Amino acid sequence: MKRPLLLLPVLLISYLILVLPGCSLGSNYIKKGESFKPTAEKNAIYTLYLIGDAGKTLSDDPEPALISLSSEILKSNPDSTLVVFLGDNIYDHGLPDENHPDRSKAENYIKDQINALGANHRALFIAGNHDWDNNSPMGNKLMKNQELFIRKYSSARAQLLPENGCQGPDFLDINENLRLIYFDSQRLFRDWLDIPDSSECKPIDLNSFFNNLELILKNSNGRKCILLHHHPFITYGEHGGKFDWKKHIFPLTAFNKYFLLPLPVVGSLYPILRSNGITPQDMSNDVYGNYTAKMREISKKYNPVFSASGHEHSLQVIRDPVSNTIQIISGKGTRLTDGTVSTGEGTIFASPFSGFMKYEIYADGTSLLTVIVPDDEGKAAEVFYFPL
Ligand SMILES: [Fe+2]
Repeated sequence: MKRPLLLLPVLLISYLILVLPGCSLGSNYIKKGESFKPTAEKNAIYTLYLIGDAGKTLSDDPEPALISLSSEILKSNPDSTLVVFLGDNIYDHGLPDENHPDRSKAENYIKDQINALGANHRALFIAGNHDWDNNSPMGNKLMKNQELFIRKYSSARAQLLPENGCQGPDFLDINENLRLIYFDSQRLFRDWLDIPDSSECKPIDLNSFFNNLELILKNSNGRKCILLHHHPFITYGEHGGKFDWKKHIFPLTAFNKYFLLPLPVVGSLYPILRSNGITPQDMSNDVYGNYTAKMREISKKYNPVFSASGHEHSLQVIRDPVSNTIQIISGKGTRLTDGTVSTGEGTIFASPFSGFMKYEIYADGTSLLTVIVPDDEGKAAEVFYFPL
């Protein structure tokens, strides 16, 4: 008869054991001895700005990360600078048709990003899962809408690539030393999931995609390669199964970080399901898992300078222990998304704050990655330096 009374504390303790270890960072993490501020000012011969998941705003005004980016790029020569938007350019469901009630809101999200380029700078946009509205049958149309809008509104200074909703991989040779390789990982996932596709690009099987990528890496003619894509190969945020205890208690913050309705126990279903592969947007899912396994194998073989992605709503620099290559995650272009992030094997830098990254290449062959985290007014602060 007394057993039910005993059961309650046992269940409570089990629940706390499940929930309490999940603690995310509340400040920037830098691995000891890993930040090297340059002692002498050098002029970059080429600069890449990396920002992702910027397709949503906290208010009607542009986000601080975009205000700060806009000021930052004025310091660099437009002819030797490229801004890369790493996907999820328009939350939550991509760019609908012109007569759709959500069109103007969605347009404003992408306009803020293009306006950040000022009068002369150029940008490359890569798609994320939200740009496709995940697995929606409308995905191709949403992507076409976004591609056309970006080209027209930016007067062709910005482009969504690969074109026509293709998966890639494709590349852009910046000079005789650098090759940017980009692909649409969400389109790839859709192909593997057999989502019907109406674009002019045929669905591609896994092996063909990886063979094409290897050929581009192999035939770079000595150029160093950088991979640009939306889904990271390794991450220590929610897409990598790292959930904060708050997500167990307040699960609705997954949709908006200000939805603070407490739902303990029931709320834990959300992180448990996601840690067990319920969605292909998480590394625990077979589709994502197969993608990362093969990408890490290829990275180990060809040793790119780094792979850069968004998707996870945080800023991370990780030396992947499997491939021994650098994974950059710059997925916090807006304050609105929840920046849950932890550290793990190989973490060099991690931040839950919104911001972006700058990668500069110098004439002497050296290069430097800088992480920039602005304040709420968009005033920039450089918080981490990493030579590559
Ligand atoms: Fe994403």
